[in-house]
Amino acid sequence: MLWSHVLGVQRAWLIAHDRDPIAAADWDQYHTLQAQRHEGVPMAYLLGWREFMGHRFEVGPGVLIPRPETEVLVSHVLEQVLPRFEQPRILDLGTGSGIVAISLALACPRATVVATDVCPTALSWATKNARTLCDGNIEILQGNWYDALLAHDTFDVIVSNPPYIAADDVHLAQGDLRAEPGKALTDGHDGLQFLQTIITGAPHFLRPLGALWVEHGWNQHQAVRELMLKEGFSEVHSINDLASIPRISGGIINF
Ligand SMILES: C[S@@+](CC[C@H](N)C(=O)[O-])C[C@H]1O[C@@H](n2cnc3c(N)ncnc32)[C@H](O)[C@@H]1O
Repeated sequence: MLWSHVLGVQRAWLIAHDRDPIAAADWDQYHTLQAQRHEGVPMAYLLGWREFMGHRFEVGPGVLIPRPETEVLVSHVLEQVLPRFEQPRILDLGTGSGIVAISLALACPRATVVATDVCPTALSWATKNARTLCDGNIEILQGNWYDALLAHDTFDVIVSNPPYIAADDVHLAQGDLRAEPGKALTDGHDGLQFLQTIITGAPHFLRPLGALWVEHGWNQHQAVRELMLKEGFSEVHSINDLASIPRISGGIINF
């Protein structure tokens, strides 16, 4: 991957040209990247992109690297939730690099999409990706969860992949997570605080029969579903990821 990146060629080209001489400048660039990788810099930050839902999203330090689990959230919303609405208005809370909002907008051109985040660095990546991938056809707002919105704004669908890792989770000190922004990973508490904020706020911003779907940790589905039921959601259920672990939960608001 690093050689493909340095030389600007596909993997097949590398295999077919395995005896070509390498220019000194390319050699130096490769070794600089290799050293950074050994120090733990995530591959996505070195390459400057990560694929998500078949699209290439630009990412770098300061924004969460897209995860395959989040494709479960987007696929489910696309296949099971959006078909119920003629012209859905969608809100993506904590958009990061914009992967959820932009993938939904690309796959459902009849939707209007609003994306929010509290972090200016994340929003600059989201804005860049929105411009490149969908002509900037997404409203991007900065603010603390629902504070980014006008009080009277309403949506058919709210989606979110919030920071849900507990502050004392040992994984925060391992692998790529060490290099990613802490505020994109953890709520600084038990991992459920932001999920609770999103779930309790959703009824104020959802239209009648609107849907809320959130991504959460491997052991949080029961707590998330209880919070949703308490707020008056119906048809509350979870969907498993490819490892058969419930990783997204959602429901419909009844008014
Ligand atoms: C787990 S990341 C998800 C990013 C992106 N949606 C994705 O799936 O790759 C959570 C995002 O929530 C944002 N966030 C954290 N605290 C927030 C807050 N108080 N209000 C709004 N967004 C927040 C972070 O900046 C981060 O981009």
